[in-house]
Amino acid sequence: MNKKFKLEEYIEIINNYIDKAVPECFFGEDIVHQAMKYSLSVGGKRIRPVLTLEFCRLCGGDINKALPFAVAAEMIHTYSLIHDDLPCMDDDDMRRGMPSCHIKFGEEYALLAGDALLTRAFGVLTESEASPEAVVKAVSLLSELSGVSGMIGGQVVDLKNEDKPCTIEVLETMDSLKTGALIKCASLLGVIVAGGNAQQYEAARCFSENLGHAFQIVDDILDVIGDEKELGKPIGSDRESGKSTYVSVLGLEKSQQYAKDITAKAIEALSIFGDDADFLKELAEKLINRKN
Ligand code: IPE
Ligand code: IPE
Ligand code: MG
Ligand code: MG
Ligand code: MG
Repeated sequence: MNKKFKLEEYIEIINNYIDKAVPECFFGEDIVHQAMKYSLSVGGKRIRPVLTLEFCRLCGGDINKALPFAVAAEMIHTYSLIHDDLPCMDDDDMRRGMPSCHIKFGEEYALLAGDALLTRAFGVLTESEASPEAVVKAVSLLSELSGVSGMIGGQVVDLKNEDKPCTIEVLETMDSLKTGALIKCASLLGVIVAGGNAQQYEAARCFSENLGHAFQIVDDILDVIGDEKELGKPIGSDRESGKSTYVSVLGLEKSQQYAKDITAKAIEALSIFGDDADFLKELAEKLINRKN
């Protein structure tokens, strides 16, 4: 059995790699480098890269080979947050307890920093010592699930449904894309790098789809009942911009119960791994009770 890691150990490994992931600037103006580093380095729960590393370990792989895949997913996530906060999107001034990237560096550089994180993510991914086949699979999956058929597609559904009533079906599609797709991608990247079998891939898919779903429901709940300081981003932002969320459609209590039910489903999907999946089970439980 592969050596087990604690959450803090994973986060330290990830943060060390992130520190080296943005290349040095070779010319005078380095504002975009600063903006990339700023957004990458402030806070963040690092859930996506942790999922990559833990699924790799669970499937018997080498987490050093998975690390560039993990960090690539976190870079894409960070770019999505920078763009999500822009005035033309959610118009939020705080992120991860600090001024949002566009507040600190200006909209034009926040836009470019997001673009640069996205493009650099694919470069980082290719720095893995995984097999060439695994790297190609990873590039293809990350591009699909972070793009218009995945995360970006979900952001479009989110924008198109502002200021109008929304059915639960539309919400599910929106959330499975805008949030679920990247969480699923991060998990599957871990299985890919380890060369996991079809049963392991299916278990990771089922776990992460349900986890991603519950994750966005809790995000919607925290926008209503969270504490701004603990959350590190504004509360009430969804209502202010007329967003349809689980809370606006189902109400608070039903949303809380729904998040719990889906988390139980996620945990069930891990049964093939037995006790070795305890870390992921605890992580899933922790995420429904999180404060940020
Ligand atoms: C926030 O994601 C945006 C969503 C997709 C819900 P996280 O809650 O993972 O944000 P960080 O990385 O911890 O800041
Ligand atoms: C974010 O959803 C989804 C992406 C960034 C892709 P939200 O807009 O709800 O995320 P927060 O609440 O701003 O973190
Ligand atoms: Mg948004
Ligand atoms: Mg937002
Ligand atoms: Mg939100």
